[in-house]
Amino acid sequence: MTAPAPGHPWWRDAVVYQVYVRSFADGLPADGEGGEGGDGAAGDGIGDLPGITSRLPYLRDLGVDALWITPFYTSPQKDHGYDVADYTDVDPLFGSLADVDRLLETAHGLGLRVIVDLVPNHTSDQHAWFREALAAGPGSPARARYVFRPGRGKDGAEPPNNWHSIFGGPAWTRLPDGTWYLHLFDSSQPDLDWRNPEVGDMFEDVLRFWLDRGVDGFRVDVAHGLYKEATLRDQKRPEKPAKAAGSMVERVLNDEPMWDQPEVHDVYRRWRRVLDSYPGDRMAVAEAWTQTAASMARFIRPDELHQAFNFGWLGTPWSAKAFAQVINDSIAAVAAASSAPTWVLSNHDVERHPTRYGGGPVGLARARAATLTMLALPGSAYLYQGEELGLEQVDVPPEARQDPSWLRQPGATGQPGRDGCRVPLPWSGDRPPYGFGGPAGAQPWIPQPDDWAALSVEAELADPDSTLAFYRRALALRRAVFAGADETTHAVADDDLLVVLRGDVAVVLNASTEPAPLPAGEILISSGPVADGQLPPDTAAWIR
Ligand code: NOJ
Repeated sequence: MTAPAPGHPWWRDAVVYQVYVRSFADGLPADGEGGEGGDGAAGDGIGDLPGITSRLPYLRDLGVDALWITPFYTSPQKDHGYDVADYTDVDPLFGSLADVDRLLETAHGLGLRVIVDLVPNHTSDQHAWFREALAAGPGSPARARYVFRPGRGKDGAEPPNNWHSIFGGPAWTRLPDGTWYLHLFDSSQPDLDWRNPEVGDMFEDVLRFWLDRGVDGFRVDVAHGLYKEATLRDQKRPEKPAKAAGSMVERVLNDEPMWDQPEVHDVYRRWRRVLDSYPGDRMAVAEAWTQTAASMARFIRPDELHQAFNFGWLGTPWSAKAFAQVINDSIAAVAAASSAPTWVLSNHDVERHPTRYGGGPVGLARARAATLTMLALPGSAYLYQGEELGLEQVDVPPEARQDPSWLRQPGATGQPGRDGCRVPLPWSGDRPPYGFGGPAGAQPWIPQPDDWAALSVEAELADPDSTLAFYRRALALRRAVFAGADETTHAVADDDLLVVLRGDVAVVLNASTEPAPLPAGEILISSGPVADGQLPPDTAAWIR
């Protein structure tokens, strides 16, 4: 790993690749059967740690600086790892602690940093604490680590308040003893009570456990959720909510007593002290779906976390004006916190961006143009596995869906759930499982489409015009042009042409339906073919 320049830690402009562990790569069985306890059930159609380690050279060659690995801890997998039963051990499905050590050593040897996921808002209902709480009964200290409350109404038969679970239905489940417990997600994910000091102490130990093993940072799940308003009052849901003034994407500013409470920032001040006590610029990035850019920036004040995902960028529709506004707003919001912005277009919770931008050739052209724009912006970019192949959202048939947001109430929300962006990657070959678990690998845990042969890593490596070849060129050029470059950036939109100026480079993105004349200068790279000084629709270019 190259040593970061003083005052310019590695994460500040890193490109981080998100590995969704179940769907990245399934390790090959050693000697046909796999090694003792550490094979991550190789070849079973579910990705694992040895699979990731075997593909690290691919990530180095892609040109990213770091990977973020989604949870691989002991878990009943009700929310595919975001339901943790033991924060300091590895689920046998994915491997062993020795596999983590091997992965870290290999990644570091290749110059890649590793960020792991931390899930502090809730545990699994299989965590020792929750099992203890159930056994200990109402009023016990064991129950005080979670949010147990009596119900309302006759015989306490109504939930304690009107909050909804993010996955649909009430955010409360009643136990046979009559009490209710809070779960902002699935009923198998009880929320912890962060007002109980035992909870904070436990997570400090978890942080230290992984820092001692050598991880470079943490992605903090539901970072805005840990504290709830102390009274647990009802959420006000006006019939006609007002628009948020200055919000990132014109979101409705809701009354949210369950999110973004001021007390949460003390947690991150404590974590920052822990992170700073380790050598090597250890960092943390918040997954905080806050309502405004200003609220997001509060998580990255100098004594709190280092970064927060910029979901405003992800949520922006295909429009030069909207892109210009979110770019300028995001940069201004984080500047106030003396940090650098982050940019993300896809992850394991949202529809893949080629599909969001319309799908098919147009969606892909737009996705490449948005990516090229993002890679020129100051700060750090987060890529989601498979976007470098141009994968689209898959229409997973109902019988194959596994996401709890679908399984809790199939069909009720009108949404298919998140399985469509979690389909295992195609590595090689012309039919499923496309080399996912090696030549003899089982069919993957979510079925892959039959028409992915041209999108496999093997196929795209052989095609200089592929999306993979484009990502590799763009990432190499980003290093050459922007590493350590001045971060001052300004975006303007003229009709449907976006122009972003950073140093002596102009990024031009044509969001209109007509070709636009390119400014004079050298074309460093374009997201699609450019000819005769014209930038076609749905295309971006870097010009110097
Ligand atoms: C956010 C994670 O990204 C998502 O996958 C998970 O379901 C929820 N947090 C709950 O942990």
